[in-house]
Amino acid sequence: MIRVLVRVVVILVGIAATGVAALLVALQLGWARHHEATAPPLRALPDPTVIERGRYLVYGPAACAYCHRPKADWPRLARGEMPPLSGNHEFPLPFGAIFSSNLTSQTQLHRLTFLGRLLLGVVMTPSGPSRPPLEMSPTGATVARGGYLANDVASCVSCHTDRQRGELVGPRFAGGQRMDFAGDTTRVLVPPNLTPDPATGRMASWSEDTFVARFRNGASTPETIMPWGAYSRMTDDDLRAVYRYLRSLPPVHRDTGPSLQPKSCTCRTRRTSRTRRTYESNALIALPLPSRVT
Ligand code: HEC
Ligand code: HEC
Repeated sequence: MIRVLVRVVVILVGIAATGVAALLVALQLGWARHHEATAPPLRALPDPTVIERGRYLVYGPAACAYCHRPKADWPRLARGEMPPLSGNHEFPLPFGAIFSSNLTSQTQLHRLTFLGRLLLGVVMTPSGPSRPPLEMSPTGATVARGGYLANDVASCVSCHTDRQRGELVGPRFAGGQRMDFAGDTTRVLVPPNLTPDPATGRMASWSEDTFVARFRNGASTPETIMPWGAYSRMTDDDLRAVYRYLRSLPPVHRDTGPSLQPKSCTCRTRRTSRTRRTYESNALIALPLPSRVT
């Protein structure tokens, strides 16, 4: 009787082990899956004005270079240099490190743990843009263009809105998200409220010219993850458009406190500190999807 039982157990363990081994091999070989996506019918024109416009977006409002260059190059980008988008910016995540792609060649760089491969290989699938890209972007120093820039291209909304588990939960542009950043586990960055609330809006008392001048001046908080350098090269019209859009928002009364705060207070922060969240994982969740830029 006992012998039969032992045999059954041995067989079951054998089956389970074979299953696990097969899963391991499958993940090792197949985690970097290729996903088909239906791209909008875009054509790249060799027209110098179109190329110049792309360069403006990449190194300006869309700040692609801040992710598609290593973090060490941020000062170069802030100075206005335009190095090629060779990628290799490391994003340390709880399940391994992923690297931004080298946009000048095809290379796969991610360094993932077993859990990371499981997530990428089996669990996660790309979701694509939340709505179809615009065929024509709004132009001029208008509220419409400002809304397009602040939400889709420069993605101000992603940092300046509170989030939980990646989802935007707070009133749009009212700030208050607590963001970890590299090299400091004791403090968080808290992007301020950008709505025109007279008491709590950070720019409530700023004129349009003050806003433009503030953006020309670049970062004032050295620890910040806001790509001030990139935005400092936005055209006057684009900055004015963003200002006019932010001014058109409903005021939200929300005091977000100083931009740098001790990490201690809420349980939410304690949880994120355990999972080793850094500014990179925040930025990755927060920053714009290239597919939304037209
Ligand atoms: C918040 C950081 C971040 C920003 C900003 C960013 N990227 Fe990326 N990008 C990444 C990462 C990380 C990957 C690698 C993703 C992967 O391999 O799954 C990537 C991958 C890509 C890829 C390769 C996709 C593929 O299928 O191989 C392209 C193309 C790209 N980015 C273009 C852009 C453009 C253009 C912009 C600006 C409009 C931009 N990115 C802005 C982080 C960023
Ligand atoms: C990657 C996250 C991120 C993005 C994207 C971002 N911000 Fe910020 N922003 C911050 C953080 C963090 C601070 C607080 C630290 C600082 O002043 O840099 C901040 C501060 C500010 C301030 C206050 C500056 C001051 O001197 O008091 C303004 C105004 C602002 N952001 C506007 C914008 C606008 C407009 C955009 C889009 C064009 C934008 N931000 C995009 C994270 C971000």
